[in-house]
Amino acid sequence: MKILVTGGTGYIGSHTCVELIESGYEVVIIDNLSNSKIEVVERIKEITGKDVKFYEGDCIDKSFLIKIFSKEKIDAVIHFAGFKAVGESVSNPLKYYRNNLDSTITLLEVMNEFNCKKLVFSSSATVYGKPKSLPIKETFPLSTTNPYGTTKLIIEGILRDLYNSDNNWSIAILRYFNPIGAHKSGLIGENPNDIPNNLMPYIVKVASKELECLNIFGNDYNTKDGTGVRDYIHVVDLAKGHIKAIEKILNENGIDAYNLGTGNGYSVLEIVNAFQKVNNVKVNYKIVERRKGDIDACYADPSYAKEKLGFKTKYGIEDMCIDAYNFAKKFKEDN
Ligand code: NAD
Ligand code: UFG
Repeated sequence: MKILVTGGTGYIGSHTCVELIESGYEVVIIDNLSNSKIEVVERIKEITGKDVKFYEGDCIDKSFLIKIFSKEKIDAVIHFAGFKAVGESVSNPLKYYRNNLDSTITLLEVMNEFNCKKLVFSSSATVYGKPKSLPIKETFPLSTTNPYGTTKLIIEGILRDLYNSDNNWSIAILRYFNPIGAHKSGLIGENPNDIPNNLMPYIVKVASKELECLNIFGNDYNTKDGTGVRDYIHVVDLAKGHIKAIEKILNENGIDAYNLGTGNGYSVLEIVNAFQKVNNVKVNYKIVERRKGDIDACYADPSYAKEKLGFKTKYGIEDMCIDAYNFAKKFKEDN
């Protein structure tokens, strides 16, 4: 079975490629390297000891996609490619609508032409907007608070329309909660070039003394200690969720959405404290104003993914903190 992975050199994509290869799938990656590095391909090969095909190009480029589909006999696609920075999507919405929507529509057109109708799509818990209650179930109402989230919601709608027009499609929409951590080897992980937007990469840079101090965005939320609560999921567990989703879509037609989270909520302070303890390192922080658009708490009800996909997470918050820091230290040594 040959799986096309768009955005396969990115953070979640690279971990998923490793799991796919280790589960016996052949992997073809396409990525335009707008937010990742070519070295990742070698690292995936190093971890798995297997070959992986890489094509540099853009999912918006239809002729490029046609070339790949003509050359490779693709059985299913996992579509990670897209931009993901919430703040940037607010200041530059057209960049997000153009890239995330165009790349998906072009990919779907080409898949249709080549009669490849099996897709796993990367959605996000952001499609739940401000949830009325917790934990979040897949049946909750959907809404968004920023253009990035809107692209995910629009694409979910496009996929449902597509399936309604042609029941031969088989589509799994995966709504990720907060992926953190890295592969145990320390060879792949999350490595933003700029100042990180997200909590864990920021903590890592403070611990590594690349940044001075973590700004904790508010301690007056309606949560256990006042800081924001999220459902952090180890990226390797998340990657394994894609194998479950691929198995599902290869075996039956339909469209469905699944939460990929652990079901546990941790506050910012709990994450900082766990990180300091397991890595024996200091993380300087100060409490600052709330970040616009943030919600108090967000965590998944993971029971539907467990029931339908057989998906269960394995790693806890300690592993996530150890593996994130291990990757950062190794990356520093190697560069
Ligand atoms: P990432 O930026 O590390 O990976 C995305 C990859 O897609 C990058 O390698 C980038 O170069 C590539 N890319 C972007 N646009 C492209 C295009 N038009 N053509 C070809 N390649 C393109 O991001 P990630 O964290 O691995 O996220 C993967 C997917 O999961 C994204 O769709 C993201 O929106 C979604 N997601 C991520 C998170 C998260 O917290 N990381 C949470 C929810 C959903
Ligand atoms: N936080 C800080 N300081 C920072 C960064 C974050 O205090 O420097 C806090 C936030 O206020 C929040 C928590 O840490 O309470 C987590 O914030 P992240 O930015 O790491 O994650 P978010 O939950 O805001 O958003 C992430 C992705 C979105 C995705 C969402 C749900 O960035 O793309 O998870 O999957 F939609």
